[in-house]
Amino acid sequence: MEQQPLRSSNWFGRTGKDGFVYRAWMKNQGIPPDMFEGKPVIGICNTWSELTPCNAHFRDLATAVKKGVLEAGGFPLEFPVMSLGETLIKPTAMLYRNLVSMDVEESIRANPIDAVVLLCGCDKTTPSLIMGACSVDIPTLVISGGPMLKGHWRGKDIGTSDLWRFDTASQLGQITPEEFVDAEACMARTQGHCAVMGTASTMAVMVEALGLSLPDNASIPAADARRKVFSQLSGRRIVEMVREDLTLSKILTRKAFENAIMINAAIGGSTNFVIHLLAIAGRISMNLSIDDFDKYSQGIPLLANIQPSGENYMEDLYYSGGLPALIKEMATIVHNDAITVNGKTIGDNCADSKVYDRKIIGTMDKPFKLESGVIVVRGNLAPNGAVLKPSAATSHLLKHSGKAVVFENIEDYHARINDPDLEIDKDSIMVLKNVGPKGYPGMAEVGNMTLPKKILELGITDLVRISDGRMSGTGFGTVILHVSPEAAVGGPLALVQNGDIISLDAHSRTLELEIGPEEWARRTAAWKQNERMHDRGYLHLYQTHVEQAHLGADLDFLKGGSGSRVARDSH
Ligand code: FES
Repeated sequence: MEQQPLRSSNWFGRTGKDGFVYRAWMKNQGIPPDMFEGKPVIGICNTWSELTPCNAHFRDLATAVKKGVLEAGGFPLEFPVMSLGETLIKPTAMLYRNLVSMDVEESIRANPIDAVVLLCGCDKTTPSLIMGACSVDIPTLVISGGPMLKGHWRGKDIGTSDLWRFDTASQLGQITPEEFVDAEACMARTQGHCAVMGTASTMAVMVEALGLSLPDNASIPAADARRKVFSQLSGRRIVEMVREDLTLSKILTRKAFENAIMINAAIGGSTNFVIHLLAIAGRISMNLSIDDFDKYSQGIPLLANIQPSGENYMEDLYYSGGLPALIKEMATIVHNDAITVNGKTIGDNCADSKVYDRKIIGTMDKPFKLESGVIVVRGNLAPNGAVLKPSAATSHLLKHSGKAVVFENIEDYHARINDPDLEIDKDSIMVLKNVGPKGYPGMAEVGNMTLPKKILELGITDLVRISDGRMSGTGFGTVILHVSPEAAVGGPLALVQNGDIISLDAHSRTLELEIGPEEWARRTAAWKQNERMHDRGYLHLYQTHVEQAHLGADLDFLKGGSGSRVARDSH
């Protein structure tokens, strides 16, 4: 293959004043002159931050990547971008996903970078980095930070999904405040992201399923020395990718997206997968729709016995053969010929894998649950669709009619959820409005509303819940999310009132509000615009331009890409 001139040579290969400026200010970092002579420059895009605890070990990973880049004859340069820590950022990390993607896109394009390694872990750090890189489209390889080791508390293994159980137990007085606090350090006891199949692990699986990482990215624990080896090998490989001109768009084919959806179903991945994959597809101009998630999930059972859909933890998946072994179980379904960053197909990468523990990785004939993936429901309450994760739901509630108990916004929910006069029973359907992309703004992870104490005291642990928001990937329940259009733009969700009958039939994919046309018209005429519009700063930009959930909630002007060409070159 004829070698193209390196993109970075337009900086470091120049003569005269320009070349002097580009090199001289780099040399003050102690870089020898031969590093500027025709070596591929590998950007290492790092979301390290002490404010993102899940990514706090990333400087070590970057060091390992650099070793690999140097070994392969490249020139590594690490750079920071805004980091999104799910646990600390308010009002929600999702509000800033698109902002980070702009930071990543512009940082790559504006600098002398021939290829980029993306270091991501905590939920939104993965889609935001990939979205930004897609809009530039140079050779790109992704490394996830790896999951935490499972926690231990009072003789039991625990992980993030137990947070919801501890919360319920605490409300019911089954554990003391001291025991609740004691569990904190027992759960998060090592570096890494959440140890269950929450959104971060789902994203790490997505990366591997799309072919954007070397095999085993999804499950090597953060604390395992092999995560560093993996990073070093990735550093070696990205240099070869420059020589092969293996750009993102060559890997992110239609087959890669379909593989990601099928594999997400088999692992019981987070519903957040839907919104992030749609946004990534939008950046690479791939025609992917919300209905593709339902279509390609159908018939795929749950093969990974990992919480919250199953019982175990991400490290167990690794010890049992990892994602390659699970994908091999799906060999008759997935597109085995989809190319990956190592230049081999996904089928080749899985060919020699073995399953070591059938309690963790099932077979297509003997899965852990028959129904998995994502169900997309539509109807007069969600004309553009809403999503539901059947593997985390209660099966008898998948077909259910009940009276709505409506909360106008999250503050209303907090104010009234434990009001003794709240009219709610085991058949009620909880409805939460104004937590969507524009309405919150940022589409908060509040859709799996904790049930009122008086319902929990009856021993009831699940009710149908409906909102235009999202749910943590670690959460569970019969929770209908991402209702589109959202209430804040006048979607039908805005019209629901206490006592209305709502009918869900997940099997026939319907979600209906049972009110007559005259009443519907009366309520539509009475609807008023959300008063929470912001008039300055990023919130204004976001609320003005964010798209609805069924399109991926990207900003409308960020769709597609602008390539790697710098707009003006005045030096
Ligand atoms: Fe970072 Fe769960 S909080 S992955």
